[in-house]
Amino acid sequence: MTDFPRILTRLMTEHPSDSHTMARYEDSGGYQALRHGLAMAPADVAAVIKASNIRGRGGAGFPTGVKWGFLAPATPRYLVINGDESEPGTFKDRQLLERDPHALIEGVILSAYALGCNHAFIYIRGEYPKPARRVQHAVDDAYAAGYLGGDILGSGFDVEVTVHLGAGAYICGEETAMLNSLEGLRGEPRIKPPFPAVQGLYAKPTIVNNVETIANVPWMVRNGGGAYAAIGPQGSSGTRLFSLSGHVNRPGNYEIVMGMTWGEFIEDLGGGVRNGRALKTWIPGGASAPWFVPDEHLHLPVTIDDTGKAGSMLGSGAVVVMDETTNVVAAAHRMVRFFAHESCGLCTPCREGCDWLERMLWRILNGHGRPYDLEMLLDVCDNISPGLRWPPAQTTICPLGPSAVQPVRSILTWFRDEVEAMIGAGRGVEGALVG
Ligand SMILES: Cc1cc2nc3c(=O)[nH]c(=O)nc-3n(C[C@H](O)[C@H](O)[C@H](O)COP(=O)(O)O)c2cc1C
Repeated sequence: MTDFPRILTRLMTEHPSDSHTMARYEDSGGYQALRHGLAMAPADVAAVIKASNIRGRGGAGFPTGVKWGFLAPATPRYLVINGDESEPGTFKDRQLLERDPHALIEGVILSAYALGCNHAFIYIRGEYPKPARRVQHAVDDAYAAGYLGGDILGSGFDVEVTVHLGAGAYICGEETAMLNSLEGLRGEPRIKPPFPAVQGLYAKPTIVNNVETIANVPWMVRNGGGAYAAIGPQGSSGTRLFSLSGHVNRPGNYEIVMGMTWGEFIEDLGGGVRNGRALKTWIPGGASAPWFVPDEHLHLPVTIDDTGKAGSMLGSGAVVVMDETTNVVAAAHRMVRFFAHESCGLCTPCREGCDWLERMLWRILNGHGRPYDLEMLLDVCDNISPGLRWPPAQTTICPLGPSAVQPVRSILTWFRDEVEAMIGAGRGVEGALVG
């Protein structure tokens, strides 16, 4: 399991006290990929990323090289790095921003060069002050060293980097809401098309990529796209960071090669379920992902496609484990409450539906469920995300509303008897505790 190059965590593991500094980064071979890349034609650098087969680490798992190919020819064009990281359970980008910011910055310069962008933005969630300080410091050092600004290393290529802090809204992780936020507008998603690659920031062609996606770029340029593609199973190439949390003995961030089974993931990485308890369920990819259960999913490989075929997603790489003592209604309620709070309110099915779901779960949890609540829960789910399709259908502009549906459908699929028992045991007082 350890026989693979540590692309994302090597420096911070070997030099935990100063991996974030320019001196340590350069001492470990940092910014050599930049020299190498700037000696290549921009299209050749883009070809390296395409050949790597990397799929975006922000959530949707879209192939990065393909997305870059959609960038419209108009200028100026922009690169925006998504460091909003607000999906419950996800804390991997935080580690990269805080402990290896130069890997991201070197990746940004190389990506901007490949894409023909002269201005890049790094958008970081407002609740990450330390990572943001570290990134700003690293950007300042990169300017001072001549890696940012005009005529970088005498190549004739110019790029400016702006670090921008969000103000605490989950929706600003959705790429078009992020662009609105950068422009000083309300953080609300835009209708697509046009996609950002055609009309994005300031109505100009824009590529949005996750922090982890771009932090891989220097390694790819140094070692070749083919070397990256050769790591791990087809369709899930490269190493990947997973944030493992919940009822496991060893929670934390893990850089792994995909392909092990979920059973191995929870046992070998997480040290198994804590206190010797039995595994009840787990979320394979953040609060937006449908839940998995031991009988059906423990044997499946941890890959983007296998997880998708089984009706869920690796999403942002956040694995949340729940043991046999978990009250699944309480867990689902907690997640739906998050989505209801974070709904931007633009689309009626999401604004109203998430709130309804939250209130119904709350009353079931508090002993006031009614016999028809299960059907009503499903009906509200259907109004936000019709049918049981995966990826989910949506009556909304962005997938936030459909994300809130996933915990509800998950408990009604796998633990319906528990929800029914909770309703049966409650007083079921008509009209009580609705709000
Ligand atoms: C509600 C919502 C929140 C999101 N939050 C994030 C986030 O915090 N970080 C991120 O990289 N992508 C997030 N995404 C996905 C982005 O819209 C986008 O797909 C991603 O940044 C693209 O980068 P990638 O191709 O490198 O994965 C979110 C999507 C939605 C719908």
